[in-house]
Formats: sequence, structure tokens, C-alpha cells
Amino acid sequence: MRGIIVALEGIDGSGLTTHSRLLTSRLSGVGLRAVYTKEPTGGPVGQLIRQLLASGRPDPRVAALLFAADRAWHLSQDPSLPGGVLGALEQGYVVVMDRYKYSSIAYQGASGADPGWLWEVNSFAPEADIIVFIDVPVEVAVARVMSREVREGYETERFLRAVKEAFEGVLREAEARGARVLRLSQVRDGKVMDVEAFSSLLFDKVSALLEESRR
Ligand code: TYD
Repeated sequence: MRGIIVALEGIDGSGLTTHSRLLTSRLSGVGLRAVYTKEPTGGPVGQLIRQLLASGRPDPRVAALLFAADRAWHLSQDPSLPGGVLGALEQGYVVVMDRYKYSSIAYQGASGADPGWLWEVNSFAPEADIIVFIDVPVEVAVARVMSREVREGYETERFLRAVKEAFEGVLREAEARGARVLRLSQVRDGKVMDVEAFSSLLFDKVSALLEESRR
């Protein structure tokens, strides 16, 4: 059976890495073959991207093309997966992606690149089966980002608001292209959920969708 791409998306400070990793281990814990992976990658183009981001906000077209090149490498060549993401899918893995092409369309779109062109540039990358958008208030995200040691030029409140708004359009388009989209808020009863509670909610929701897709 072909594997499944579960892509986690959101603005900086929404806990994507923590929750992608936890989701992967919970899925493995119930006997699924699940693997965690991240974009930008640690590969040659990924490293170039980190250099570029460290020195300010790059031209959105330059960024988009580099992120797309890194994505092509991730899909077909990344040696940390059996034959890249595509190889892992052929082998039936649930591939949990900590960011995917939807980040490109939202981030580079919010920076001024044309969304139609961004979809086109990324058209080689298969649609995710499931996209989970982790929804966190921008103020909470900014507070988390500011408490980290390393900051990237990208991470400013105004920009994150624009990215969050751009994600709305991206998720609608992804849905129209056949992805299942799950929007999960980290706020419940007016309070931000702790990591354990949110991770458990995420696992329950994703498991239910995986169950459905197997029927
Ligand atoms: P991020 O996941 O935040 O890396 P880390 O947590 O290790 O610093 O990704 C780096 C930044 O790149 C983040 O601000 C989102 C942005 N990004 C894009 O602008 N376009 C893309 O296609 C991707 C995958 C990420």
C-alpha cells in the first residue's frame, strides 16, 4: 500500500517541530511505520537557505526557488529517508512532514511572490494527503519565538500576521486540490493548551483520518 503524507503547517512559534516529532512517535507506538522529516532540510540547499535567512529577508522569488530545489532534493534524494520522501511513500510509510510546500506558498506569498506562480513552481511536489494547520494566536507565537536564542529575519509580528492570513487561502486551495485539511487550535476554553494535551488531541484526530483513509 502507498504511504501517506501528513504535513504539519503553521506560523513560526506554533510548535511544529515538537508536535511533528511527538505525533511520529505516537504513531510508531501504535505499530504504524511512521517517519519524521523536516523542511528546510539539512541537505546542501537547506544549508544555503539557512545562510540566506540568517542575513535578512531574501527576495521572495529567490527564496521560493531555493525552497523548491530543497524540496525536490528532499522528495527524491534525502539519504535520511529510504529513497527520499517518495521512496518512503512507496514503502508504505506515514511520512510526517514538519513543513511542506504550503509553507512556501504562505511565506513567500506573504513576502510578495505571486501565489499562482508559487503553486506552479511547486507543482512537482505531490499534494499532502492530510494537512494539519496548528492555529496559535500570533501574540503567543511571537512570545515563543522571541524567547529562542537564534532569531531569523522572518520572525516579526507583522509578518507572521500576514503569513497566517496567507495560510487561509493556501489551505482552501489545498482542499480544492484534494488534501484533507485539519485546523487545530491550541486554545481551548480561553487558555493555551499544554504540550501533552495538544499532542494527544493531534494524535486522536490524525489517527481517525488515517483510519478513514484505510477503509
Ligand atoms: P523552520 O521550520 O522555522 O526552521 P527552524 O525551526 O529549524 O528554524 O523554517 C525556517 C523558516 O523558513 C520558517 O520561518 C518558515 C520558512 N519557510 C519558508 O519561508 N518557505 C518554505 O518553503 C519553508 C519550508 C519554510
